[in-house]
Amino acid sequence: MTVRLLGLNCSPRDNSNSGIMLETGFEKLDATYPGECEHSVIHLRDLHIEPCKACNVCGKKKDGTFIPCVREQEDDVQTILDAMVAADGILVATPVYFGLPSDLFSKFIMRTRPLRHQDFKLANKPVGVLATAGRRSGGAETAIIATWLPFVRNGCLVVGNGDGTCQFGAYGWAGGRGHVLSDEWGLEQAFQTAQRVFKLAGVIKAGVEASGYENYMTFSYSQGTRT
Ligand SMILES: Cc1cc2nc3c(=O)[nH]c(=O)nc-3n(C[C@H](O)[C@H](O)[C@H](O)COP(=O)(O)O)c2cc1C
Repeated sequence: MTVRLLGLNCSPRDNSNSGIMLETGFEKLDATYPGECEHSVIHLRDLHIEPCKACNVCGKKKDGTFIPCVREQEDDVQTILDAMVAADGILVATPVYFGLPSDLFSKFIMRTRPLRHQDFKLANKPVGVLATAGRRSGGAETAIIATWLPFVRNGCLVVGNGDGTCQFGAYGWAGGRGHVLSDEWGLEQAFQTAQRVFKLAGVIKAGVEASGYENYMTFSYSQGTRT
């Protein structure tokens, strides 16, 4: 069985630390599990991404048919959504900006709303986060947890690496481009987080294949009641 992982690089700059965190994680996975992991990286900065316009059109009709995003033909977002759906697990690498993931991440992730409205197309997908911050106490963990939230809303399973190397996700400590290459421990955390996503994605994939269980959640507009 091959496990397909998708890396989303949310840095706006080239030769980014975020990109290096992803590459390192995948290279070490290849070395540890030869031939078992297929991986690819999407660099969000290379793509045309319009913000969600909050038109509330995307979703599901009463008859169960799906309505796509009205911007589907306007930019490159659908390509990213298709890659996310096709992946068995996702690794998000982001620089830490003001204790949060990058604005590029935030702009993109709002556009995943149609997937949620289309019976949670990302349901049960493991997701790990690799954050790089210039300062040692510069908000890496708040950025990691903020990155989790939209994925939880999408029905994904977010993971860190337990107590192995990093509880919530990987933390690269680096400022300038490429600086993270000298942060051995941060790069090890990137691998450990990638490995956790890889293993969990494999367990889920094998379980679904063996059991035949459906692996999705049904979306409804129910919001509870209020008087
Ligand atoms: C707008 C902006 C905000 C930043 N905010 C933080 C921050 O809150 N904490 C921190 O430690 N570093 C902060 N940094 C530094 C970056 O996190 C750091 O340079 C990181 O290595 C960038 O990763 P990249 O190479 O993947 O883009 C900020 C940088 C920018 C440009």
